[in-house]
Amino acid sequence: MKRKIDTSKRIVVTGAAGFIGFHLCKRLLDNGVEVYGFDNMNNYYDPALKYARLEILKGYDNFSFAIGDLADEKAVEKIFADFKPDIFVNLAAQAGVRYSLENPKAYIDSNVVGFFNVLEASRKHGVSHLVYASSSSVYGNQEKTPFSVTDNVDNPVSLYAATKKTNELMAYTYSHLYGIPSTGLRFFTVYGPFGRPDMAYYSFTNRIFKGETIKVFNHGDLYRDFTYIDDIIEGVVNVIYRQSDADEKGVQHRVYNIGNNKPVNLLVFIETLEKVIGIEAKKEFLPMQKGDVYQTYADVSDLERDFGFRPDTPIEEGLKKFVEWYREYYNV
Ligand SMILES: NC(=O)c1ccc[n+]([C@@H]2O[C@H](COP(=O)([O-])OP(=O)(O)OC[C@H]3O[C@@H](n4cnc5c(N)ncnc54)[C@H](O)[C@@H]3O)[C@@H](O)[C@H]2O)c1
Repeated sequence: MKRKIDTSKRIVVTGAAGFIGFHLCKRLLDNGVEVYGFDNMNNYYDPALKYARLEILKGYDNFSFAIGDLADEKAVEKIFADFKPDIFVNLAAQAGVRYSLENPKAYIDSNVVGFFNVLEASRKHGVSHLVYASSSSVYGNQEKTPFSVTDNVDNPVSLYAATKKTNELMAYTYSHLYGIPSTGLRFFTVYGPFGRPDMAYYSFTNRIFKGETIKVFNHGDLYRDFTYIDDIIEGVVNVIYRQSDADEKGVQHRVYNIGNNKPVNLLVFIETLEKVIGIEAKKEFLPMQKGDVYQTYADVSDLERDFGFRPDTPIEEGLKKFVEWYREYYNV
């Protein structure tokens, strides 16, 4: 059952032209919520896709938008001055594990300095709830499965993961010092329509349609808890309307996993994608990449306990919807 949406709350979504941000905005806008989107429209991947998402959002009267960078303190301040949000959802970030080896500074600018600006502005102006994206990558190469939010995550294997863990620590501190209720969400490999072209499922699809070879890392011996976008959005919508409960020290900060709780082997994933597309992929088998992790597997018992919700879209169904969208969008 979908969660009922409270239209009295004014919501900022940063990263609104991004994959998850776009879907979140759309879900809220469809239900009559006043939404303010913020994004710097960077070219980490083809900005045309970001503009296409934004075009759809701009069709709503209850949507307003500003281009700006989270690392620019004044731009973040202006969000609060312009819109006076009740709830702030921070999804803007430099995403991607592999790119953090190429351009580490982008991660510090957007994810650390940018998030600091969000915390400072939230402290000055007050928000009833600050919700921010963390990532399953904080679990690094943990062997114990499933991954629980109570597990120690002090061993990140990429700078991307380190910045996400940093966000959780910073948010905890601001909740402790200034009483800002905040919740971090560790998303697990999100896929779906209007997805991210830098992610494997998307680039596989691209290459399969073009008859090009796909690169299969660790010879296919990888496991990912692929999570369909609608499940992620349902999880986010559940979380944003309920301020985090205080922990045993009285701090209103929580972290939840949002993942499918069903890791899939990479070769099985590729086989499913091939079936949905109807073309067999040419494959090149390669060793493990630096910074990559062997497996991800979300324990979602906290999410289920607190919100009565757990993701459950099977990859067959999710990939079918992704490929339907892909065919229409690229006209293939
Ligand atoms: N998609 C996934 O599988 C996944 C998994 C775990 C965590 N996450 C996290 O979820 C969030 C959303 O991810 P996504 O998949 O939608 O990525 P995305 O790259 O599609 O969206 C992020 C958006 O933020 C914008 N942005 C980046 N830096 C910015 C800055 N400094 N100022 C303003 N805007 C900026 C980008 O232009 C982009 O549109 C990110 O924080 C990401 O790290 C995503």
